[in-house]
Amino acid sequence: MDRVNAILCQPLYRKYYDSLEEIERDRIFCRHQMPHLLDVARIMEIRNLEEKLGFDRELIYAAAVLHDIGKSLQYTDKIPHEKAGEKIAAQILDGLPQEMVFSEEEKGMILRAIRGHRRLREDMEPFERLLCESDKASRMCFACPAEEQCDWSREKKNMEIKV
Ligand SMILES: [Fe+2]
Repeated sequence: MDRVNAILCQPLYRKYYDSLEEIERDRIFCRHQMPHLLDVARIMEIRNLEEKLGFDRELIYAAAVLHDIGKSLQYTDKIPHEKAGEKIAAQILDGLPQEMVFSEEEKGMILRAIRGHRRLREDMEPFERLLCESDKASRMCFACPAEEQCDWSREKKNMEIKV
């Protein structure tokens, strides 16, 4: 997990992660800090193994820890976070130390998955779909004290445990 840990230490990652933490401090709805990011990573990895998708574990964790990194700009500048996140993630990946870089192919997969993670589409790449579905599956609406005030549609909410 060296390259994923390098992402977490990257100054731009820290800047946007800390700013999001501050903005969401009193948020009653879904938050986007490490518990969520790692829930998504672990669901992705379980599905990856069960469905024999063959994705590299570091690639999965990299996409999961980066996927909501644009969220603070959605709050402050009204930029959709998948768009802001794709740009910021590209800068973070390009700013990693030489021995920690992801290949162009890996970068392309991570950035495409971030850009596409908010909505399911017919033509999704398998890695993009894995992130999108795992992100949604990670939310425990059935146990959320703010569920009734949340504007997610009834169909979108997870009102029972699904595997
Ligand atoms: Fe998410």
